[in-house]
Amino acid sequence: MLERLVDITDNALAPDNLYENLSFPDAEGDIPYIYANMVCTIDGKTLLGPRGTSAKGLGGDTDQLLMRRIQNCSEAAIVGASTLRVGHVIYPQHLIRAVVTRSGDVPWSNRFFTDCPRKAIVFAPMAAKGEGFPSLPEGVRMIQVGEEDVDVEKVARILRAQFNIRRLLLEGGAILNGHFFRAGLVRELFLTLAPKLKGGDDSPGLMDGKGFEGNGFRELTLLSLYRAESELYARYRVGSVKKDDAYNSGNCKIRFPSTSPNVK
Ligand SMILES: NC(=O)c1ccc[n+]([C@@H]2O[C@H](COP(=O)([O-])OP(=O)(O)OC[C@H]3O[C@@H](n4cnc5c(N)ncnc54)[C@H](OP(=O)(O)O)[C@@H]3O)[C@@H](O)[C@H]2O)c1
Repeated sequence: MLERLVDITDNALAPDNLYENLSFPDAEGDIPYIYANMVCTIDGKTLLGPRGTSAKGLGGDTDQLLMRRIQNCSEAAIVGASTLRVGHVIYPQHLIRAVVTRSGDVPWSNRFFTDCPRKAIVFAPMAAKGEGFPSLPEGVRMIQVGEEDVDVEKVARILRAQFNIRRLLLEGGAILNGHFFRAGLVRELFLTLAPKLKGGDDSPGLMDGKGFEGNGFRELTLLSLYRAESELYARYRVGSVKKDDAYNSGNCKIRFPSTSPNVK
């Protein structure tokens, strides 16, 4: 049972139908509309075990259900290679699925590939000489972009131009998220806050890597907040929502209550 706590999106659905028929602002120019979905503990950890283990058990059944709904409303999803190495990633059949790797250490038997090889894309930098690349399964495409690192902005442009992707779901992990957030490409964050504490210096967070320079940070605006018992499901816009920005056109409208601090 979901309970609505706050929602300034134009969501007419009952709380239990949350994230069904999700709507987003239109993609702008040659970049898809990109949103991340993650689950973390109250102290911001995205795993219960050490890095490289599955995130299973972190979120509850509702988190799993909402994750599926967000995937269903997306046209493509992208993950880091470490997330694939942890276990099978099973996506709805319609999803274009992309993975980013430098090493080429990619588990080709993962259902991410075997379910729909022709919908799978591997992005690697020009410098990549991984052992795994020669065994690219039939149908899977490999695209090299960037020198030492995969240039994620170019990845976004390629997905829009060559695959007609307008809605791209970023599904982690923390290292890949860091590349996308630092490049300023992520427009929304769907975040499940699991009522758990984990601690530990080695546990990955939501966004690892360099972080924003100096005292720099990104401010988020809360679009909606629901709960099931003590687990919270938040949808944030990265940056502020302005009355004349894309949220007020296309298929996604925002109501502008006077109490919302970041709506200008
Ligand atoms: N709680 C959650 O919601 C959630 C969601 C997703 C994943 N996870 C967990 O997070 C862990 C994985 O996260 P992670 O941060 O360790 O790794 P990750 O982001 O999944 O993957 C990192 C790897 O992706 C490749 N990569 C990422 N950005 C790249 C770039 N710009 N250029 C070249 N290669 C790039 C590299 O692959 P190579 O090593 O192949 O070179 C890198 O080592 C797993 O344990 C998973 O279970 C949790």
